[in-house]
Amino acid sequence: MEERGEEALERQAVAVITGASSGLGAALTRLLDRTLPEDVELWLIARDREKLTDFATGLTHRTRVLAYDLTLEATFDELKRLFDQEQPAVQLLINNAGEGCSGSFCSQEGAAHQALCDLNVRAQLALTSQALPWMGAGSSLLFVASVAAFLPQPGFAAYAASKAFILSFGRALREELKERGIRVTVTCPNPMLTDFFTSQQKEALLKSYKRFGIEDPDRVAEKTLAAMRRDKGLVVTSPSGKLIRLAAKLLPTGLLLKWIRWK
Ligand SMILES: NC(=O)c1ccc[n+]([C@@H]2O[C@H](COP(=O)([O-])OP(=O)(O)OC[C@H]3O[C@@H](n4cnc5c(N)ncnc54)[C@H](OP(=O)(O)O)[C@@H]3O)[C@@H](O)[C@H]2O)c1
Repeated sequence: MEERGEEALERQAVAVITGASSGLGAALTRLLDRTLPEDVELWLIARDREKLTDFATGLTHRTRVLAYDLTLEATFDELKRLFDQEQPAVQLLINNAGEGCSGSFCSQEGAAHQALCDLNVRAQLALTSQALPWMGAGSSLLFVASVAAFLPQPGFAAYAASKAFILSFGRALREELKERGIRVTVTCPNPMLTDFFTSQQKEALLKSYKRFGIEDPDRVAEKTLAAMRRDKGLVVTSPSGKLIRLAAKLLPTGLLLKWIRWK
């Protein structure tokens, strides 16, 4: 992999954010819009062009609306062309776009499992690998995992496993990239009432014990970016998330799974 970091001064500085049009991605982008130097261009990725364009209109930074579906192979051909053509100095890559798939594994379609793995895992690896040659010392990578990464979750099995993958991958990559001066952070939020959930799922969430841990995406974005500034490798944005992480470290997984099932 060719290192292009030294040439960063002459190249356009960019921050790439996936899933920027909604929920946590939008909260992170709005906050970055208030805090990043004005010469940084924001490259925003999501599928719905109109929604992304409307969102970008409210930002003060120069933006590039990239209406791509990250589950499609062709997207990565397009992105490769874009990186090669623009030769940007990628200062920040936020791998945020993700989706859930709830219910028992057997009740779900195979296509849903594939789409989840494509977006939550494959796309994050592919985009990271494409962006890294354009990142140099002082740049940062953020992976959005979840508190679900700490424990297997019956009823949310593939999702929790995809987030455990990202947590493990992000932490290992952080060590690998230290010698290049590239910072890596993984953030693990609790449930947030975003478009990630259908209105039915939101209602169910508000009735379950999980309601006590619900977080506001703006607060998650603030805590996450603050932790990145302090070069934290892992940020768990809620007290209950920290408790779950501790329990997952100290208690046998079998016991915790029994408790989850009982709840
Ligand atoms: N909400 C929660 O409770 C929660 C908790 C912990 C962690 N997380 C994680 O936080 C991240 C953001 O979730 P969120 O709650 O903000 O979800 P959200 O409100 O549903 O936003 C998802 C974003 O990703 C984009 N997106 C979805 N599928 C895509 C695809 N195939 N290609 C490109 N972009 C795509 C969506 O735009 P388009 O639909 O236009 O593509 C949207 O901008 C996810 O990784 C999620 O797993 C969420």
